[in-house]
Amino acid sequence: MVTDARAPTSTHRRFLAPFAGQAISPPPIWLMRQAGRYLPEYRATREEAGSFLKLCYNPKLAAEVTLQPIRRYGFDAAILFADILIVPDALGQDVRFETGEGPRLDPITDQAGLKRLDVNATGEKYGLICETVARLRQDLPPETALIGFCGAPWTVATYMVGGRGSPDQADARSWAYRDPAGFQKLIDILVESSVEYLSGQVKAGADVLQIFDSWAGSLPDNEFARWVIDPTRSMVAALKARHPGVPIIGFPRGAGASTAEFVTATGVDGVSCDTAMPLCAMRELAELDVVVQGNLDPLLLVSGGEALDQRVDEILAAMKGRRHIFNLGHGITPPTPPENVARLVERVRA
Ligand code: CP3
Repeated sequence: MVTDARAPTSTHRRFLAPFAGQAISPPPIWLMRQAGRYLPEYRATREEAGSFLKLCYNPKLAAEVTLQPIRRYGFDAAILFADILIVPDALGQDVRFETGEGPRLDPITDQAGLKRLDVNATGEKYGLICETVARLRQDLPPETALIGFCGAPWTVATYMVGGRGSPDQADARSWAYRDPAGFQKLIDILVESSVEYLSGQVKAGADVLQIFDSWAGSLPDNEFARWVIDPTRSMVAALKARHPGVPIIGFPRGAGASTAEFVTATGVDGVSCDTAMPLCAMRELAELDVVVQGNLDPLLLVSGGEALDQRVDEILAAMKGRRHIFNLGHGITPPTPPENVARLVERVRA
């Protein structure tokens, strides 16, 4: 039998090359929140689903919205369509998304509140998300990698404790100062359940995992070590023990000067850098035997034009010869014109 050496198999997914030690040019590209409200076809499918959470728990429609940006732009990786708040929802803390207002949860603010969470209750909801992953692995082009994800314990805890998004995560930070042992119990529940959840995603077909720590930047360095680095290190160790070949990307948004420590202490295979990370610092991170992802400003994708082209070129030039994955520094925002995304992908691949 003649086998075509160029036929895409899991080992031929360009997205995986940097994790196998290769600095490829052009770098692989995907964008955080690449599925979402900036796409008219997303808005139509969300309407069909009835609500955001119903969309997340509908494997057929969730797979459909995951594929929409792949069809349009041919990104090197698809990211499972779900949300970081699936974990608290599955644990029993009822999550709601009110249109235009963001997430709402009944806050858990002390140890007594932890009784509302049950790590043995997640099977059905995690099962639906894993069904989306399995469908995607069937429906995606073979050359497209599939990223599974969850929120990092610290960031998920900020929503669970505050009951909503907040500018300073004061409720979670206050609990952590007031009663670190109690707050640790919440973090431990999240570590355990998130490992189960991600492991399920890998078994269902995810090639790579990303852990979103969107609020990592709100902690002083000693608290960062305890609530960002330690839980992430535990998750990485547990996942590596079960799935040694699956790369894990950390996204400690806002970690700034603590990012190098995050990389070396957690053992992540990749680090996603936010918009404020200087390109020279990204180059230094690449010396730490880690794949560096990022970090175009999502607002440049709204304004587009030559300013967009220029910054794309700067990022590409700075990361040339390094193991880089092109991405934004944070998620795509709803006002982004879809044609600017096409322009970006074309520019990166030119
Ligand atoms: O990247 C992708 O395309 C995959 C899907 C994805 C979503 N949320 C879909 C979503 C991913 C990876 C996330 C991660 C997520 N969710 C994070 C971490 C990344 C970040 O942005 O910092 C956080 C903090 C959340 C929590 C969350 N979900 C908030 C605060 C909101 C409301 C804000 C908003 O943009 O509306 C959501 C809702 C959400 N998650 C939407 C989408 C497409 C919009 C919901 C809608 O359609 O109305």
